[in-house]
Amino acid sequence: MRIIVIGATGTIGRAVVDALSPRHDVVAASRSSNPSVDIADAASIRALFASVGHVDAVVCAAGAARFAPLAELTDDDFAFSIANKLMGQVNVIRQALAHVNDGGSITVTSGVLGQQPAPGSGAISLVNAALEGFARAAALEAPRGIRVNVVSPPWIAETLAKLGRPSDGALTAAACAKSYVQSVEGSETGVVYRP
Ligand SMILES: NC(=O)c1ccc[n+]([C@@H]2O[C@H](COP(=O)([O-])OP(=O)(O)OC[C@H]3O[C@@H](n4cnc5c(N)ncnc54)[C@H](OP(=O)(O)O)[C@@H]3O)[C@@H](O)[C@H]2O)c1
Repeated sequence: MRIIVIGATGTIGRAVVDALSPRHDVVAASRSSNPSVDIADAASIRALFASVGHVDAVVCAAGAARFAPLAELTDDDFAFSIANKLMGQVNVIRQALAHVNDGGSITVTSGVLGQQPAPGSGAISLVNAALEGFARAAALEAPRGIRVNVVSPPWIAETLAKLGRPSDGALTAAACAKSYVQSVEGSETGVVYRP
């Protein structure tokens, strides 16, 4: 399969690329790659698909949202989070539907805070839960047998380690990547994987 992975240099995205590339032709994309893409800019997503052409799968493991106590989350924090992690990935799905081959797949990324909020996660919980709702609905209308799924990662061991927090027993990025592989190589649609 020919697969675009957006966020390919990140903690999760790199593990997804490592898991898929032995069997597939992977196009790695991010803001700093060639081809480059900024999911917060719909024109940039359009340009990516125009340059890469048709693919069998699109994976997005990118998207930022702001973490802060509710009383401190500003209008700008909400607008940023919605424009980036939510609408960025919604627009990846919308545009990918025209560029993924028959029977292909689109996989985007939410996160555990969508289902299990924590103090400070208001904006992140909002966009994660909304993305899951949108993806389930998009799966119902996806044409030509195209499948649409979401992976909702828990806190990843490498990320916790980077933050200086205990990471013993946490899921590694490589283990999390298995859910993306399942979404790409399997047959399910409208599913939220919770590795
Ligand atoms: N790691 C965790 O513990 C965890 C847990 C739950 C959910 N998640 C979610 O999983 C996703 C990936 O997390 P991560 O920890 O792997 O992130 P990360 O290590 O910060 O990597 C982010 C990746 O996305 C790219 N990127 C960032 N902004 C982008 C944009 N606007 N357009 C295109 N590419 C962009 C980055 O490359 P460039 O800088 O070159 O663009 C990089 O390749 C995020 O949505 C995150 O919220 C992560």
